[in-house]
Amino acid sequence: MTMEKLIIEGRHPLNGEIKISGAKNAALPILAASLLTTSPIQISNIPHLQDVTTIVSLLGQMGVKITLDERSNIEVDASSLDSFQAPYELVRTMRASILVLGPLLSRFGEAEVSLPGGCAIGTRPVDQHLKGLKAMGAEIILQNGYIKAKAKKLKGATIVMDMVTVTGTENLIMAAVLAEGQTIIHNAAREPEVEDLANFLNTLGAEISGAGSQTISINGVKALRGGKYHVLPDRIETGTYLAAAVITSGKIKLKNTRPDFLKSVLLKFEETGAIIDTGEDWISLDMKGNRPHAINFSTAPYPAFPTDMQAQMMAVNSIAQGTGVITETVFENRFMHVQELIRMGARIELKGNTAICTGTDKLHGAPVMATDLRASASLVLAGLAAKGETAIDRIYHIDRGYECIEEKLTQLGARIHRIPSETKD
Ligand code: UD1
Repeated sequence: MTMEKLIIEGRHPLNGEIKISGAKNAALPILAASLLTTSPIQISNIPHLQDVTTIVSLLGQMGVKITLDERSNIEVDASSLDSFQAPYELVRTMRASILVLGPLLSRFGEAEVSLPGGCAIGTRPVDQHLKGLKAMGAEIILQNGYIKAKAKKLKGATIVMDMVTVTGTENLIMAAVLAEGQTIIHNAAREPEVEDLANFLNTLGAEISGAGSQTISINGVKALRGGKYHVLPDRIETGTYLAAAVITSGKIKLKNTRPDFLKSVLLKFEETGAIIDTGEDWISLDMKGNRPHAINFSTAPYPAFPTDMQAQMMAVNSIAQGTGVITETVFENRFMHVQELIRMGARIELKGNTAICTGTDKLHGAPVMATDLRASASLVLAGLAAKGETAIDRIYHIDRGYECIEEKLTQLGARIHRIPSETKD
Protein backbone atom coordinates (compact mmCIF):
# COMPACT_ATOMS: atom_id res chain seq x y z
CA MET A 1 0.00 0.00 0.00
CA THR A 2 1.46 3.37 -0.91
CA MET A 3 1.23 5.64 2.06
CA GLU A 4 0.19 9.23 1.57
CA LYS A 5 -0.48 12.29 3.68
CA LEU A 6 -2.88 15.18 3.30
CA ILE A 7 -1.47 18.62 3.97
CA ILE A 8 -4.00 21.32 4.84
CA GLU A 9 -3.41 25.01 5.38
CA GLY A 10 -6.32 26.15 7.51
CA ARG A 11 -8.49 29.23 7.93
CA HIS A 12 -9.74 29.66 4.36
CA PRO A 13 -13.56 29.94 4.42
CA LEU A 14 -15.19 27.54 1.96
CA ASN A 15 -17.27 29.05 -0.78
CA GLY A 16 -18.77 27.53 -3.92
CA GLU A 17 -20.66 24.56 -5.36
CA ILE A 18 -19.86 20.85 -5.70
CA LYS A 19 -21.62 17.64 -6.66
CA ILE A 20 -22.21 14.84 -4.19
CA SER A 21 -21.27 11.27 -5.22
CA GLY A 22 -23.31 8.08 -5.01
CA ALA A 23 -23.67 6.53 -1.56
CA LYS A 24 -20.95 4.08 -0.53
CA ASN A 25 -23.29 2.28 1.85
CA ALA A 26 -25.88 1.75 -0.89
CA ALA A 27 -23.39 0.83 -3.65
CA LEU A 28 -21.82 -1.96 -1.54
CA PRO A 29 -25.00 -3.96 -0.81
CA ILE A 30 -26.30 -3.35 -4.34
CA LEU A 31 -23.08 -4.75 -5.85
CA ALA A 32 -23.27 -7.74 -3.47
CA ALA A 33 -26.92 -8.27 -4.46
CA SER A 34 -25.94 -8.55 -8.11
CA LEU A 35 -24.74 -12.08 -7.20
CA LEU A 36 -28.41 -13.07 -7.01
CA THR A 37 -29.13 -13.00 -10.73
CA THR A 38 -27.65 -14.60 -13.85
CA SER A 39 -28.81 -11.71 -16.06
CA PRO A 40 -26.69 -8.59 -16.65
CA ILE A 41 -27.13 -5.51 -14.47
CA GLN A 42 -26.14 -1.89 -15.06
CA ILE A 43 -25.62 0.33 -12.05
CA SER A 44 -24.96 4.06 -12.29
CA ASN A 45 -23.77 6.67 -9.76
CA ILE A 46 -21.25 4.26 -8.26
CA PRO A 47 -18.66 6.28 -6.30
CA HIS A 48 -14.94 5.77 -7.07
CA LEU A 49 -13.81 4.58 -3.65
CA GLN A 50 -11.42 2.03 -2.20
CA ASP A 51 -14.34 0.13 -0.59
CA VAL A 52 -16.01 -0.21 -4.00
CA THR A 53 -12.72 -1.49 -5.46
CA THR A 54 -12.59 -4.04 -2.62
CA ILE A 55 -16.07 -5.43 -3.27
CA VAL A 56 -15.43 -5.43 -7.04
CA SER A 57 -12.24 -7.52 -6.42
CA LEU A 58 -14.21 -9.83 -4.16
CA LEU A 59 -16.91 -10.39 -6.79
CA GLY A 60 -14.22 -10.74 -9.48
CA GLN A 61 -12.53 -13.54 -7.49
CA MET A 62 -15.85 -15.37 -7.45
CA GLY A 63 -15.98 -15.36 -11.23
CA VAL A 64 -18.31 -12.37 -11.68
CA LYS A 65 -17.58 -10.29 -14.80
CA ILE A 66 -17.48 -6.57 -14.05
CA THR A 67 -16.98 -3.66 -16.46
CA LEU A 68 -16.40 -0.16 -15.16
CA ASP A 69 -16.40 3.12 -17.06
CA GLU A 70 -15.14 6.56 -16.04
CA ARG A 71 -18.63 7.92 -15.69
CA SER A 72 -19.43 5.94 -12.55
CA ASN A 73 -21.30 3.15 -14.36
CA ILE A 74 -20.75 -0.52 -13.65
CA GLU A 75 -21.97 -3.56 -15.56
CA VAL A 76 -22.14 -6.78 -13.61
CA ASP A 77 -22.64 -10.25 -15.04
CA ALA A 78 -22.77 -12.94 -12.36
CA SER A 79 -23.85 -15.77 -14.70
CA SER A 80 -20.45 -17.48 -14.51
CA LEU A 81 -20.06 -17.40 -10.74
CA ASP A 82 -17.76 -20.28 -9.74
CA SER A 83 -16.65 -19.71 -6.15
CA PHE A 84 -18.55 -19.16 -2.94
CA GLN A 85 -15.63 -17.98 -0.81
CA ALA A 86 -14.84 -14.54 0.60
CA PRO A 87 -11.21 -14.79 1.76
CA TYR A 88 -9.76 -13.18 4.88
CA GLU A 89 -7.36 -10.95 2.89
CA LEU A 90 -10.27 -8.98 1.46
CA VAL A 91 -12.78 -9.21 4.31
CA ARG A 92 -10.24 -7.88 6.82
CA THR A 93 -9.84 -4.67 4.80
CA MET A 94 -13.60 -4.10 4.67
CA ARG A 95 -16.16 -5.46 7.09
CA ALA A 96 -18.98 -4.85 4.63
CA SER A 97 -17.65 -7.90 2.70
CA ILE A 98 -20.00 -9.84 5.01
CA LEU A 99 -22.73 -8.62 2.59
CA VAL A 100 -21.89 -11.45 0.17
CA LEU A 101 -22.95 -14.09 2.74
CA GLY A 102 -26.72 -13.84 2.18
CA PRO A 103 -26.60 -13.74 -1.65
CA LEU A 104 -23.99 -16.55 -1.94
CA LEU A 105 -25.96 -18.84 0.33
CA SER A 106 -29.12 -18.12 -1.58
CA ARG A 107 -27.56 -18.66 -5.02
CA PHE A 108 -25.17 -21.60 -4.29
CA GLY A 109 -26.72 -23.17 -1.22
CA GLU A 110 -23.27 -22.73 0.27
CA ALA A 111 -21.00 -19.88 1.39
CA GLU A 112 -17.69 -19.43 3.17
CA VAL A 113 -17.02 -15.92 4.40
CA SER A 114 -14.15 -14.95 6.65
CA LEU A 115 -15.18 -13.56 10.03
CA PRO A 116 -14.51 -9.82 9.88
CA GLY A 117 -12.63 -9.69 13.18
CA GLY A 118 -12.10 -6.56 15.25
CA CYS A 119 -11.95 -3.09 13.81
CA ALA A 120 -10.94 0.32 15.03
CA ILE A 121 -14.42 1.31 16.18
CA GLY A 122 -15.37 -1.71 18.26
CA THR A 123 -15.87 -5.46 18.13
CA ARG A 124 -18.83 -5.32 15.70
CA PRO A 125 -20.14 -8.90 15.86
CA VAL A 126 -22.29 -10.51 13.11
CA ASP A 127 -24.46 -12.68 15.37
CA GLN A 128 -27.69 -11.10 14.07
CA HIS A 129 -26.81 -11.95 10.46
CA LEU A 130 -26.19 -15.57 11.46
CA LYS A 131 -29.27 -15.84 13.69
CA GLY A 132 -31.53 -14.70 10.85
CA LEU A 133 -29.96 -17.09 8.31
CA LYS A 134 -30.35 -19.98 10.78
CA ALA A 135 -34.03 -19.09 11.20
CA MET A 136 -34.29 -19.47 7.41
CA GLY A 137 -32.90 -22.99 7.64
CA ALA A 138 -29.17 -22.48 7.12
CA GLU A 139 -26.66 -24.65 8.93
CA ILE A 140 -23.81 -22.48 10.11
CA ILE A 141 -20.52 -23.39 11.69
CA LEU A 142 -17.57 -21.20 12.58
CA GLN A 143 -14.29 -22.88 11.63
CA ASN A 144 -10.72 -21.59 11.25
CA GLY A 145 -11.91 -18.00 11.27
CA TYR A 146 -14.55 -18.63 8.60
CA ILE A 147 -18.34 -18.63 8.66
CA LYS A 148 -19.34 -21.79 6.79
CA ALA A 149 -22.99 -21.78 5.83
CA LYS A 150 -25.07 -24.37 4.00
CA ALA A 151 -28.72 -24.60 3.01
CA LYS A 152 -30.27 -26.70 0.25
CA LYS A 153 -33.08 -24.19 -0.08
CA LEU A 154 -33.60 -21.24 2.26
CA LYS A 155 -37.12 -20.99 3.69
CA GLY A 156 -39.02 -17.86 4.62
CA ALA A 157 -39.16 -17.11 8.36
CA THR A 158 -40.26 -14.49 10.85
CA ILE A 159 -37.18 -12.84 12.32
CA VAL A 160 -37.01 -10.38 15.21
CA MET A 161 -33.68 -8.56 15.24
CA ASP A 162 -32.28 -8.03 18.76
CA MET A 163 -30.81 -4.71 17.71
CA VAL A 164 -30.98 -2.48 14.68
CA THR A 165 -28.26 -3.53 12.24
CA VAL A 166 -27.88 -2.06 8.78
CA THR A 167 -25.83 -4.73 6.99
CA GLY A 168 -27.62 -7.41 9.06
CA THR A 169 -30.98 -6.29 7.69
CA GLU A 170 -29.50 -6.12 4.17
CA ASN A 171 -28.01 -9.62 4.35
CA LEU A 172 -31.34 -11.09 5.43
CA ILE A 173 -33.27 -9.24 2.72
CA MET A 174 -30.87 -10.63 0.09
CA ALA A 175 -31.15 -14.15 1.51
CA ALA A 176 -34.96 -13.96 1.60
CA VAL A 177 -35.49 -12.72 -1.95
CA LEU A 178 -35.05 -16.18 -3.50
CA ALA A 179 -36.16 -18.20 -0.44
CA GLU A 180 -39.27 -20.37 -0.42
CA GLY A 181 -42.24 -18.46 1.02
CA GLN A 182 -42.50 -15.26 3.04
CA THR A 183 -39.93 -13.68 5.36
CA ILE A 184 -40.79 -10.93 7.81
CA ILE A 185 -38.01 -8.93 9.45
CA HIS A 186 -39.06 -7.08 12.61
CA ASN A 187 -36.93 -4.30 14.13
CA ALA A 188 -35.30 -3.81 10.72
CA ALA A 189 -32.88 -0.94 10.04
CA ARG A 190 -34.68 2.02 8.40
CA GLU A 191 -31.61 3.62 6.77
CA PRO A 192 -32.23 5.02 3.25
CA GLU A 193 -29.53 2.67 1.96
CA VAL A 194 -31.61 -0.35 3.08
CA GLU A 195 -34.52 1.08 1.13
CA ASP A 196 -32.28 1.68 -1.89
CA LEU A 197 -31.18 -1.97 -1.86
CA ALA A 198 -34.84 -3.09 -1.69
CA ASN A 199 -35.79 -0.75 -4.56
CA PHE A 200 -32.93 -2.14 -6.63
CA LEU A 201 -33.97 -5.74 -5.97
CA ASN A 202 -37.61 -4.90 -6.76
CA THR A 203 -36.55 -3.55 -10.18
CA LEU A 204 -35.10 -7.05 -10.80
CA GLY A 205 -38.43 -8.65 -9.89
CA ALA A 206 -38.07 -9.20 -6.14
CA GLU A 207 -41.15 -8.73 -3.95
CA ILE A 208 -40.05 -6.65 -0.98
CA SER A 209 -42.35 -4.28 0.88
CA GLY A 210 -41.92 -2.08 3.94
CA ALA A 211 -38.23 -1.24 3.40
CA GLY A 212 -37.56 2.08 5.15
CA SER A 213 -39.87 1.04 8.01
CA GLN A 214 -39.27 -1.23 11.02
CA THR A 215 -41.02 -4.20 9.46
CA ILE A 216 -39.97 -5.54 6.08
CA SER A 217 -41.72 -8.40 4.33
CA ILE A 218 -40.29 -10.35 1.45
CA ASN A 219 -42.12 -12.86 -0.71
CA GLY A 220 -39.60 -15.24 -2.18
CA VAL A 221 -39.52 -15.47 -6.00
CA LYS A 222 -38.03 -18.18 -8.26
CA ALA A 223 -35.46 -16.00 -10.02
CA LEU A 224 -34.45 -12.38 -10.59
CA ARG A 225 -33.99 -10.76 -13.98
CA GLY A 226 -31.45 -8.14 -15.07
CA GLY A 227 -31.99 -4.39 -14.93
CA LYS A 228 -30.68 -0.85 -14.52
CA TYR A 229 -30.39 1.14 -11.30
CA HIS A 230 -29.11 4.54 -10.16
CA VAL A 231 -27.58 4.57 -6.64
CA LEU A 232 -28.88 7.24 -4.27
CA PRO A 233 -26.61 10.13 -3.16
CA ASP A 234 -24.28 9.84 -0.17
CA ARG A 235 -25.89 11.52 2.85
CA ILE A 236 -22.73 11.22 4.96
CA GLU A 237 -20.54 12.83 2.28
CA THR A 238 -23.19 15.55 2.06
CA GLY A 239 -23.14 16.09 5.83
CA THR A 240 -19.34 16.16 5.89
CA TYR A 241 -19.14 19.00 3.31
CA LEU A 242 -21.85 20.92 5.14
CA ALA A 243 -19.76 20.56 8.31
CA ALA A 244 -16.75 21.88 6.35
CA ALA A 245 -18.71 25.04 5.52
CA VAL A 246 -19.89 25.41 9.13
CA ILE A 247 -16.40 24.98 10.61
CA THR A 248 -14.86 27.58 8.23
CA SER A 249 -17.80 30.04 8.57
CA GLY A 250 -18.32 29.58 4.82
CA LYS A 251 -21.12 29.37 2.29
CA ILE A 252 -21.65 26.38 -0.01
CA LYS A 253 -24.16 24.66 -2.26
CA LEU A 254 -24.25 20.89 -2.72
CA LYS A 255 -25.89 19.42 -5.81
CA ASN A 256 -27.00 15.85 -6.70
CA THR A 257 -27.99 15.17 -3.09
CA ARG A 258 -31.18 14.47 -1.09
CA PRO A 259 -32.01 16.82 1.81
CA ASP A 260 -34.88 14.57 2.96
CA PHE A 261 -32.33 11.95 4.13
CA LEU A 262 -30.52 14.44 6.35
CA LYS A 263 -33.31 15.92 8.46
CA SER A 264 -31.73 15.24 11.86
CA VAL A 265 -28.36 16.53 10.63
CA LEU A 266 -29.74 19.71 9.00
CA LEU A 267 -31.61 20.58 12.23
CA LYS A 268 -28.32 20.38 14.15
CA PHE A 269 -26.56 22.58 11.57
CA GLU A 270 -29.35 25.15 12.00
CA GLU A 271 -28.65 25.09 15.76
CA THR A 272 -25.02 26.04 14.99
CA GLY A 273 -26.41 29.21 13.37
CA ALA A 274 -26.30 28.10 9.73
CA ILE A 275 -28.89 29.41 7.25
CA ILE A 276 -30.00 26.40 5.22
CA ASP A 277 -32.04 26.30 2.06
CA THR A 278 -33.03 23.12 0.18
CA GLY A 279 -34.56 21.99 -3.10
CA GLU A 280 -35.43 18.48 -4.19
CA ASP A 281 -31.80 17.60 -4.99
CA TRP A 282 -29.68 20.40 -3.50
CA ILE A 283 -28.76 21.99 -0.18
CA SER A 284 -27.19 25.38 0.42
CA LEU A 285 -25.66 26.46 3.72
CA ASP A 286 -24.50 29.93 4.72
CA MET A 287 -22.78 30.78 8.04
CA LYS A 288 -22.87 34.52 7.22
CA GLY A 289 -19.24 34.60 8.34
CA ASN A 290 -20.17 33.61 11.92
CA ARG A 291 -18.50 31.15 14.23
CA PRO A 292 -20.84 28.19 14.95
CA HIS A 293 -22.59 27.55 18.28
CA ALA A 294 -21.92 24.23 20.02
CA ILE A 295 -24.51 21.47 19.68
CA ASN A 296 -25.66 18.48 21.75
CA PHE A 297 -26.90 15.15 20.42
CA SER A 298 -26.90 11.37 20.82
CA THR A 299 -26.28 9.06 17.90
CA ALA A 300 -28.86 6.34 17.13
CA PRO A 301 -30.16 4.40 14.12
CA TYR A 302 -31.94 6.31 11.32
CA PRO A 303 -33.90 8.59 11.36
CA ALA A 304 -32.02 9.80 14.48
CA PHE A 305 -28.58 11.43 14.29
CA PRO A 306 -26.15 9.12 12.38
CA THR A 307 -23.06 7.72 14.10
CA ASP A 308 -21.25 8.26 10.78
CA MET A 309 -21.54 12.06 11.33
CA GLN A 310 -20.49 12.04 15.01
CA ALA A 311 -16.76 12.63 14.50
CA GLN A 312 -17.33 15.48 12.02
CA MET A 313 -19.67 17.21 14.50
CA MET A 314 -17.06 16.80 17.24
CA ALA A 315 -14.68 18.83 15.04
CA VAL A 316 -17.37 21.53 14.70
CA ASN A 317 -17.93 21.58 18.49
CA SER A 318 -14.18 21.88 19.06
CA ILE A 319 -14.13 25.37 17.48
CA ALA A 320 -17.69 26.39 18.45
CA GLN A 321 -18.95 29.00 20.90
CA GLY A 322 -20.05 27.26 24.11
CA THR A 323 -20.00 23.65 25.31
CA GLY A 324 -21.45 20.72 23.37
CA VAL A 325 -22.25 17.24 24.68
CA ILE A 326 -22.17 14.28 22.27
CA THR A 327 -23.20 10.75 23.24
CA GLU A 328 -22.32 7.79 21.01
CA THR A 329 -24.83 4.95 21.44
CA VAL A 330 -24.26 2.86 18.27
CA PHE A 331 -20.60 1.82 18.54
CA GLU A 332 -18.38 1.42 21.59
CA ASN A 333 -14.96 2.99 21.20
CA ARG A 334 -15.84 5.39 18.39
CA PHE A 335 -13.90 8.32 19.88
CA MET A 336 -10.50 7.68 18.30
CA HIS A 337 -10.55 11.18 16.78
CA VAL A 338 -10.77 12.80 20.22
CA GLN A 339 -7.09 12.35 21.14
CA GLU A 340 -6.02 13.68 17.73
CA LEU A 341 -8.34 16.71 18.00
CA ILE A 342 -6.85 17.40 21.45
CA ARG A 343 -3.40 17.47 19.81
CA MET A 344 -4.74 20.33 17.69
CA GLY A 345 -5.89 22.26 20.78
CA ALA A 346 -9.46 20.97 21.24
CA ARG A 347 -10.79 20.82 24.80
CA ILE A 348 -12.68 17.53 25.06
CA GLU A 349 -13.39 15.45 28.13
CA LEU A 350 -14.55 11.83 27.74
CA LYS A 351 -16.92 10.24 30.24
CA GLY A 352 -17.82 6.74 29.09
CA ASN A 353 -19.65 7.11 25.79
CA THR A 354 -20.11 10.88 26.20
CA ALA A 355 -17.76 13.61 24.98
CA ILE A 356 -18.02 17.07 26.53
CA CYS A 357 -16.36 19.63 24.34
CA THR A 358 -15.78 23.29 25.16
CA GLY A 359 -15.09 25.24 22.01
CA THR A 360 -11.97 27.28 21.40
CA ASP A 361 -11.19 29.58 18.48
CA LYS A 362 -7.52 28.59 18.72
CA LEU A 363 -7.16 25.20 17.04
CA HIS A 364 -3.66 24.92 15.61
CA GLY A 365 -2.30 22.72 12.85
CA ALA A 366 -0.42 19.57 13.93
CA PRO A 367 0.73 16.22 12.53
CA VAL A 368 -2.15 13.81 13.19
CA MET A 369 -3.06 10.25 12.29
CA ALA A 370 -6.22 8.98 10.61
CA THR A 371 -7.59 5.93 12.46
CA ASP A 372 -10.86 5.15 10.69
CA LEU A 373 -12.96 6.59 7.91
CA ARG A 374 -15.10 9.14 9.73
CA ALA A 375 -12.41 9.98 12.30
CA SER A 376 -10.22 10.97 9.34
CA ALA A 377 -12.94 13.25 8.01
CA SER A 378 -13.10 15.02 11.37
CA LEU A 379 -9.34 15.66 11.22
CA VAL A 380 -9.69 17.14 7.72
CA LEU A 381 -12.41 19.45 9.07
CA ALA A 382 -10.32 20.47 12.07
CA GLY A 383 -7.40 21.13 9.69
CA LEU A 384 -9.59 23.42 7.57
CA ALA A 385 -10.38 25.50 10.69
CA ALA A 386 -6.96 25.41 12.38
CA LYS A 387 -4.27 28.05 12.21
CA GLY A 388 -1.23 26.84 10.24
CA GLU A 389 -0.52 23.48 8.67
CA THR A 390 -2.09 20.12 9.49
CA ALA A 391 -0.54 16.92 8.12
CA ILE A 392 -2.85 13.91 8.22
CA ASP A 393 -1.14 10.54 7.93
CA ARG A 394 -2.70 7.17 6.91
CA ILE A 395 -5.26 8.78 4.66
CA TYR A 396 -6.12 5.46 2.99
CA HIS A 397 -8.93 5.50 5.53
CA ILE A 398 -10.35 8.64 3.86
CA ASP A 399 -10.06 7.12 0.37
CA ARG A 400 -12.29 4.25 1.51
CA GLY A 401 -15.26 6.59 1.70
CA TYR A 402 -14.68 10.05 0.14
CA GLU A 403 -14.45 10.38 -3.64
CA CYS A 404 -11.86 13.00 -4.76
CA ILE A 405 -11.87 14.73 -1.38
CA GLU A 406 -9.00 17.10 -2.10
CA GLU A 407 -10.36 18.02 -5.57
CA LYS A 408 -13.78 18.79 -4.12
CA LEU A 409 -12.38 20.82 -1.20
CA THR A 410 -10.00 22.68 -3.54
CA GLN A 411 -12.98 23.56 -5.74
CA LEU A 412 -14.53 25.13 -2.63
CA GLY A 413 -11.41 27.22 -1.95
CA ALA A 414 -9.59 25.04 0.59
CA ARG A 415 -5.78 24.74 0.55
CA ILE A 416 -5.18 21.00 0.57
CA HIS A 417 -2.83 18.62 -1.22
CA ARG A 418 -1.54 15.07 -1.04
CA ILE A 419 2.10 14.06 -0.62
CA PRO A 420 3.86 10.68 -0.19
CA SER A 421 4.38 9.72 3.43
CA GLU A 422 7.45 8.10 5.00
CA THR A 423 5.31 6.17 7.52
CA LYS A 424 5.72 2.41 7.40
CA ASP A 425 2.50 0.48 8.12
C1 UD1 B 1 -23.41 0.17 8.76
C2 UD1 B 1 -22.66 1.16 7.90
C3 UD1 B 1 -21.74 2.01 8.77
C4 UD1 B 1 -22.53 2.64 9.91
C5 UD1 B 1 -23.34 1.61 10.65
C6 UD1 B 1 -24.27 2.24 11.69
C7 UD1 B 1 -22.50 -0.01 5.78
C8 UD1 B 1 -21.63 -0.69 4.79
N1 UD1 B 1 -21.89 0.43 6.90
O1 UD1 B 1 -22.44 -0.69 9.36
O2 UD1 B 1 -21.16 3.02 7.95
O3 UD1 B 1 -21.62 3.24 10.82
O4 UD1 B 1 -24.15 0.86 9.74
O5 UD1 B 1 -25.10 3.17 11.09
O6 UD1 B 1 -23.69 0.19 5.56
N2 UD1 B 1 -24.30 -5.49 15.91
C9 UD1 B 1 -24.33 -6.65 16.66
N3 UD1 B 1 -24.57 -7.83 16.02
C10 UD1 B 1 -24.73 -7.92 14.68
C11 UD1 B 1 -24.69 -6.74 13.92
C12 UD1 B 1 -24.47 -5.54 14.57
O7 UD1 B 1 -24.16 -6.61 17.89
O8 UD1 B 1 -24.93 -9.03 14.16
C13 UD1 B 1 -24.07 -4.17 16.59
C14 UD1 B 1 -22.78 -3.50 16.16
O9 UD1 B 1 -21.70 -3.97 16.92
C15 UD1 B 1 -23.10 -2.05 16.41
C16 UD1 B 1 -24.58 -1.95 16.08
O10 UD1 B 1 -25.07 -3.28 16.14
O11 UD1 B 1 -22.91 -1.74 17.78
C17 UD1 B 1 -24.90 -1.36 14.73
O12 UD1 B 1 -24.11 -1.98 13.75
P1 UD1 B 1 -24.59 -2.19 12.24
O13 UD1 B 1 -25.81 -1.38 11.95
O14 UD1 B 1 -24.64 -3.64 11.97
O15 UD1 B 1 -23.37 -1.58 11.44
P2 UD1 B 1 -22.88 -2.06 10.02
O16 UD1 B 1 -24.04 -2.62 9.27
O17 UD1 B 1 -21.65 -2.87 10.17
